Amino acid sequence: ITVQVNKPGGAVSKNMYGLFFEDINFAADGGLYPELVKNKSFETDEHLVGWKALRGGAGLETYAVLSQQPISATNRHFVRLNARVAGPDAGMVNEGFRGMGVKQNAEYTFSLYARKGPGSVNSLTVTLESEKGQPLAQAQVSGLTSEWKKYSLPIKPSATDAKAHLKITLDGAGAVDVDVVSLFPKDTWNNRPNGLRTDLVQLLKDMQPGFLRFPGGCIVEGRTLAERYQWKKTIGDVASREPLINRWNMEFKHRSTPDYYQSFGLGFFEYFQLSEDIGAEPLPILNVGMACQFNSAELAPMSSTAGGPNAGNDPNTGDPTLDTFIQDAIDLIEFANGPATSPWGAKRVAMGHPAPFNLKMIGIGNEQWGPQYLERYEPFAKAVKAKYPNIQIVSSAGPSPDGELFEKASKRLGELNAEYVDEHYYAKPEWFREHADRYDKYSRKGPKIFAGEYAAQSVAIGSPDNKNNWDCALSEAAFMTGLERNADVVGMASYAPMLAHVDAWQWTPNMIWFDNLNSYGTTNYYVQKLYALNKGTTILPVQLPGNAKNGQDNLFVSAVADNGTGEVVVKLVNYSPEARAVKVNLAGAKKLGKTGKATVLASPDLQAQNTLEQPLNVAPKELQFKVSSATLEYTLAPNSFTVLRVAG
Ligand code: AHR
Repeated sequence: ITVQVNKPGGAVSKNMYGLFFEDINFAADGGLYPELVKNKSFETDEHLVGWKALRGGAGLETYAVLSQQPISATNRHFVRLNARVAGPDAGMVNEGFRGMGVKQNAEYTFSLYARKGPGSVNSLTVTLESEKGQPLAQAQVSGLTSEWKKYSLPIKPSATDAKAHLKITLDGAGAVDVDVVSLFPKDTWNNRPNGLRTDLVQLLKDMQPGFLRFPGGCIVEGRTLAERYQWKKTIGDVASREPLINRWNMEFKHRSTPDYYQSFGLGFFEYFQLSEDIGAEPLPILNVGMACQFNSAELAPMSSTAGGPNAGNDPNTGDPTLDTFIQDAIDLIEFANGPATSPWGAKRVAMGHPAPFNLKMIGIGNEQWGPQYLERYEPFAKAVKAKYPNIQIVSSAGPSPDGELFEKASKRLGELNAEYVDEHYYAKPEWFREHADRYDKYSRKGPKIFAGEYAAQSVAIGSPDNKNNWDCALSEAAFMTGLERNADVVGMASYAPMLAHVDAWQWTPNMIWFDNLNSYGTTNYYVQKLYALNKGTTILPVQLPGNAKNGQDNLFVSAVADNGTGEVVVKLVNYSPEARAVKVNLAGAKKLGKTGKATVLASPDLQAQNTLEQPLNVAPKELQFKVSSATLEYTLAPNSFTVLRVAG
């Protein structure tokens, strides 16, 4: 193998390997966003998702979602607890997100809004119970008045439990209204009051991601336009953020009652903050005026009244037209980057972030296709560029990068000087190995590629039997040698989806799995991480023995120079059950070190997986090797992905 150290190619983008976040598989509520109470504001629907009345004991007469004098215009519902007779079980219980994960002696803040109704109830009792019903902590909300007031109390569980639940009971007979019930850990990323789950953020940060794409995925589109993601409804006071049915709710098998809502406690402000925390460029994806084409395929009308109070709405139906969607994007850029004196910049400042978030790119549409997309994209992109010429735009071209529609769209996007086209690949592991040369001959004249979603599917796309096994991860590593060799045209790449709760998922495979207390990175996670940590700065051309094609004989190679450290970084995938001795000639290397570092991710068993019990079953191992000449001699382990770093 020859690595032409003396013939460096194009630059590797600084944000080449990043993250794709979507609220699927309980990724936000029940995952990254650590609120433990489900449906805290009673805003979902009449089913009171997450709550149950405690009817066993004395005297819970009724409970209902009411809407008189609510706490805010966007939080119209609350619960009235009403007991004719005092008793220990007059109240209700919240199940959490497949239970509540609580840790012994850790601090949590319980809070709620409450108001006294008719009767003589002056206080409420709050009890955190284990899955088996043992009390873990208790507190009293006292001094209730007839006005809404927020009460906060510390809660410290006496034991750890992954599936605890929370009871709220009336101390006496009478009625009390409650709203925005919250149980939130104190231990959050950067100790923020509305902060994120630390173990999950740590796994993300450890990847040194170049970008964070959010909020999806199909969730951007919604099944209908009314259910699309609207970023403006996700900022400001958390208690007033209106929840929305999650687009992935219906993927739960045999679930007649909706159970999966987005609370938006993790909203656009928090996504920007997370990007900043983990050092990733924010990449928000915005709705282009189309609902998911796999569902209703609803379209926003193109025309609108110009100016006036109805600007952006169809004069006949009142529905938002394309103008509304375009304006949302323009306002978002102002929210992220605008000064305190601008209307949307002021909202960011009011939320506690005076400095701009320095947003540099946005995506217009997720996975949309066909002429309807292009006719909306064109005026959309034009309007954004007219106001913000330096904002880079990621365009969509459809779900299947090999289809005719995708090709047509890509061609047109090229004519429109689009900067990035978002390609998604969900396919069998062999597809990834067979397409490692996908970009080797790709045109350098058109838009760059954003490999925005990919994951090898061990069984079939959408199959619940797909596994995060080493076969899939190693095949992705092989494919990614092709992304890296062509980093002059592939500017960004992210595995998808990112997060999944082991008890509440709709899609598999995923990069990181978690339960209510623990989490782990899959074999695929470690592949992504090794690429990100070793992305280097400049492509180095590679020749395989006899000018073999990459992937021939199941050997895949790419190389980069890291100008920051002065090292040559070679990535080698040996998709073979046999060990393989290789000689890597670092042609033209001038400052060879005496030793090199190998980071090896390997398993002889292609079916091997990481799990909550064995999170590091397949994880990187580092070792040193001797360098005695410019030709490195190294033996690749069976079924391995190896990163060699040598001063050169
Ligand atoms: O990653 C899961 C889904 O796959 C995304 O929401 C969508 O963009 C793609 O079809």
